[in-house]
Amino acid sequence: MNILITGATSGIGKQLVLDYLADGHHVIACGRSQDKLDSLAAEAKADEHLSTCIFDVTDREQTLEALQACQEQNNLDCVILSAGVCEYIDDAKHFEPELVDRVFAANFFGVVNSIAGVLPRMKRGSKLVVVDSMARMFQFTRAEAYGASKAAIHYFAGSLRTDLIKEGIQVITVSPGFVKTPMTDANDFEMPMRVTVEQASAAIKKGIDKGKPHIAFPRIFGFILAFLQRLPYRVQIALSKRMKQS
Ligand SMILES: NC(=O)c1ccc[n+]([C@@H]2O[C@H](COP(=O)([O-])OP(=O)(O)OC[C@H]3O[C@@H](n4cnc5c(N)ncnc54)[C@H](OP(=O)(O)O)[C@@H]3O)[C@@H](O)[C@H]2O)c1
Repeated sequence: MNILITGATSGIGKQLVLDYLADGHHVIACGRSQDKLDSLAAEAKADEHLSTCIFDVTDREQTLEALQACQEQNNLDCVILSAGVCEYIDDAKHFEPELVDRVFAANFFGVVNSIAGVLPRMKRGSKLVVVDSMARMFQFTRAEAYGASKAAIHYFAGSLRTDLIKEGIQVITVSPGFVKTPMTDANDFEMPMRVTVEQASAAIKKGIDKGKPHIAFPRIFGFILAFLQRLPYRVQIALSKRMKQS
């Protein structure tokens, strides 16, 4: 398979690159930093099945151009959009709207730009995988921007899933719980049921192989959040407030 992965220079995206290469697939690893892409190539021991592509997903023109050039050389069987950022709001009363812009620029519009860049040339039978987050399922404290961006892209991808059925392109949404990566290493609160990046990559690969429309892990954490969402708002607020900075 030819698999294109964004956010390939760190965390979940990087582990997916290494695991798909180990299985003998051709991987196009996308990142915004040439140094980080070079380090990834070195870590993959200059695997001949690895190629790289550089663009910043928040730059629409750059993203469309880079992805078009990439697809002129490769027929993509699977596209995994993992690039994303996380910023929390510490002072809710005086929050900076620019923070919300930054988070949406990467997590919502960055994914939209990437989808617009790959979709017109994707063929029947190919898969488009969008990584959102279980954060979209519960109103966590300080996660106004991050959670909203993930809820928005989950909805966008879900709607696209229906509309692309006739084109024979499968849209898969991925909602991870906490995964140990540089993104969550920066967190200053307890992260229940955090899984390793190897476990995350294995769960995503397995779900894609099985052609699941939606992949969520760890499943039990997903069930808990779905249950919490049905509780009265007063209870939800009390629980959310407990996820304070330590
Ligand atoms: N870790 C978790 O617990 C968790 C849980 C749920 C969902 N997720 C989602 O999973 C995805 C991967 O997260 P992660 O934990 O692996 O994070 P990570 O280790 O911080 O990796 C994020 C990746 O996205 C890239 N990226 C960020 N902004 C970009 C931009 N403007 N243009 C191009 N690339 C950009 C980063 O590039 P640089 O290396 O250049 O910064 C990096 O490769 C994200 O969408 C995240 O929201 C993560």
